[in-house]
Amino acid sequence: MAQPQPVSSDIAPDLAPDIYERILAVAAIILLLLVMTALVRGIDHWRSMEPLIWGHLATVMIPLAITPVQLLRRRGDRAHRILGWIWSVSLFITAVASFGIRDINEGQLSFIHLFSVVTIVSVPLLVLAARHHQIARHRGTVRGLITGALLTAGYFTLIPNRMLGGWLWS
Ligand code: HEM
Repeated sequence: MAQPQPVSSDIAPDLAPDIYERILAVAAIILLLLVMTALVRGIDHWRSMEPLIWGHLATVMIPLAITPVQLLRRRGDRAHRILGWIWSVSLFITAVASFGIRDINEGQLSFIHLFSVVTIVSVPLLVLAARHHQIARHRGTVRGLITGALLTAGYFTLIPNRMLGGWLWS
């Protein structure tokens, strides 16, 4: 009798980090270093920075620092799950709270809030995929979110007309 075919997303793929995930890990480390450099260079402006932006930086630095760890170390164990929850919750909070920051477009939402929408939709999906052991789907959503939101939104903050970019390149 024919055996039922497994759903592709249920097949456990090779769990080791591939070349793309190694590149993402390095990109996250470089971004973390650049943001920290910008913050140090902007130390004279810290007192005038809005509390919401301090909060945004605090919540986003958590997933940014965890990203290379999750991408490079062993997957699926207890530490991966704990760090994964911290990563997901802090990134989700970052995205929700970012709707309170409206500096770029004269008090209105800007195109950067699209990253927030993508994040708010994607984080629950990647958590659900993990809980249902849909490894390929979980991995794909995490990779997409790191590429398309965390790193893109992060590197965008380093262009000279943004706050961090202004401090970094001054
Ligand atoms: C390393 C990653 C990130 C850093 C360092 C960062 C930093 C900042 C800073 C300093 C601001 C306010 C100053 C400015 O706009 O120049 C800002 C604004 C903002 N960020 Fe981030 N961010 C990061 C990632 C993200 C992510 C992942 C999201 C969405 C999920 C996001 C969404 C926003 C939004 C919507 C704004 C407001 C833009 C506006 O004023 O219209 N950021 N970010």
